[in-house]
Amino acid sequence: MIQAQTLGELLSKPAVPIATSAHRDGAPRPEQTQAPRDRLDRPLRSLRVSLIDMCNLRCNYCMPGEEYAWLPRDDILDVEETGRLVEAFTGLGVEKVRLTGGEPLMRREVRQVVERLAGIPQIRDISLTTNGVLLARHAEGLAEAGLHRLTVSLDTLQADRFRRLTRRDDLHHVLKGIEAAHSAGLENLKINTVVMRGFNDDELADLIEFGTESGAEVRFIEYMDVGGATQWSLDRVVSKQQMLESLRQRFGPIQELSRNGTAPADRYALPDGTVFGVIASTTDPFCRTCDRSRLTADGVWFLCLYAADGLDLRSPLRGGASIDEIKDLIAEKWMQRSDRGAEERAELNSLRGPLYQIEDLRKDPHREMHTRGG
Ligand code: GTP
Ligand code: 5AD
Ligand code: SF4
Repeated sequence: MIQAQTLGELLSKPAVPIATSAHRDGAPRPEQTQAPRDRLDRPLRSLRVSLIDMCNLRCNYCMPGEEYAWLPRDDILDVEETGRLVEAFTGLGVEKVRLTGGEPLMRREVRQVVERLAGIPQIRDISLTTNGVLLARHAEGLAEAGLHRLTVSLDTLQADRFRRLTRRDDLHHVLKGIEAAHSAGLENLKINTVVMRGFNDDELADLIEFGTESGAEVRFIEYMDVGGATQWSLDRVVSKQQMLESLRQRFGPIQELSRNGTAPADRYALPDGTVFGVIASTTDPFCRTCDRSRLTADGVWFLCLYAADGLDLRSPLRGGASIDEIKDLIAEKWMQRSDRGAEERAELNSLRGPLYQIEDLRKDPHREMHTRGG
């Protein structure tokens, strides 16, 4: 059994213990040259880099179909191309990089990518979001390569539900993966649970307990109407308030903890000090402080999870543009940014439905959540 942190420790410590004035090796970090701000005065800080669009699960809220048109193999950036593009971003203020998919552990060179990024001095935080199926075999290598934080998606602890949700029988692999990550010393382990009414909303307490046992902080995510969620409907969303109410009934008073910068999760403590988070992207979006953007595996840069189009950075990169030229393209685009996709969706109120129908998604795989990274 893993010792939970005390509430006092948690209240006095940021959730992400990261160096602020010096790099991990103690050397000072280079000065940022230009740090563009968008039209809503938001800086460019956090980059989500998808390593591959393929996935080995078929979670209903993200990939309800079985067959997909994958990005052409030749378009996928290689390790060095990814490193160079990330360097263009870090030259403009990006300090946090999260590796996503599809399923990032399906990318053969995942360890090399982490190593490449770990060598970029401006980056103070490299994290990865995985479904956990292949984690047991990768955990140690990722820790050695320099990964700082890991998040595992886990929506249910019941094998039959897992099979129904994902169309695969892999719950035991995910659980083994979480155990391996903890043994490998990967700190700041998190579990992401998308909560859906009538599916797993009776498992919140069990998941919190599982998190305590496995040394992970659980975050409950409101079901979002993103590309890929073609079966989304408002009545299947369990709101943050509803989640808190059900946990209050079970455990007693819940204390709200201070927010961790621009992180999407609101954090809470149960009476025994156990901490969990809620990401209310559907009913209470965090667009006002959103400093994140996403790079797809084929080098298209999206400024918002809900954005219709992105900027192709692969073509200039492969066409011989210098890093400074790419930085200019990025800065110019960021300064035009006024996206607040989740807020606009929320403003639709009861008219809200799936963002795309299947036929619209098929027209452009970049609209899919599994291509943009969850
Ligand atoms: P850190 O801030 O680095 O800890 O990462 P994170 O918590 O954003 O990463 P994670 O991949 O765990 O994301 C958690 C969930 O937040 C996702 O699964 C989405 O449901 C939601 N989310 C992530 N990125 C965005 C975004 O750009 N916009 C909105 N509205 N929701 C997002
Ligand atoms: N709603 C909320 N979160 C989603 N994710 C994918 N699709 C959705 C959705 N419709 C997130 C999950 C998963 C991550 C990869 O993407 O949290 O953990
Ligand atoms: Fe940022 Fe767009 Fe997500 Fe809002 S919806 S938090 S603007 S990425």
